[in-house]
Amino acid sequence: MVEALSQALPDDKPARYAALAGEIAAVLAGETSLTARMATVAAMLAAAFEAFLWTGFYVVDPAKGDELVVGPYQGTLGCLRIAFGRGVCGTAAVERRTVIVPDVDAFPGHIACDSRSRSEIVVPVLDASGDLIAVLDVDSGKLAAFDASDAAGLERIVAQTFSAPAPGGSG
Ligand code: SME
Repeated sequence: MVEALSQALPDDKPARYAALAGEIAAVLAGETSLTARMATVAAMLAAAFEAFLWTGFYVVDPAKGDELVVGPYQGTLGCLRIAFGRGVCGTAAVERRTVIVPDVDAFPGHIACDSRSRSEIVVPVLDASGDLIAVLDVDSGKLAAFDASDAAGLERIVAQTFSAPAPGGSG
């Protein structure tokens, strides 16, 4: 499925994200498990973009409220917990905005989970009530791999998957 998915998608990045958004919605139709939704998004994004080195979620720990704990991901071993305000993920969580880091070595406090990572994008994940539930973190082995089209594409997928009201289930 991995090769089949990326080969079937368009080369143009915005078009690829748009096609992928449709594929993800189709796969997840009727699925209310948050873990299943996050695992599927991580797997399908990682399969669709060769440049994605690490793709996955850090989830807000409900027991702490101000700490992220690793969720479903594709890639090498990620660090388990990130405090709000720390690293790229903790910054995106506190500021509730997408953070693009073109060069991770130039980002103060960047947390290096995979030493091959050169650039990164982190998108906040809100539920249907507007509460922060997680962040989506994508790392690339290339410098400046992410631009506004990645932010728009990932934000769209995150919004449709986690922020839309879930009929018949709370997720
Ligand atoms: N680099 C991230 C930490 C998570 S790993 O990249 C998987 C950060 O600075 O928040």
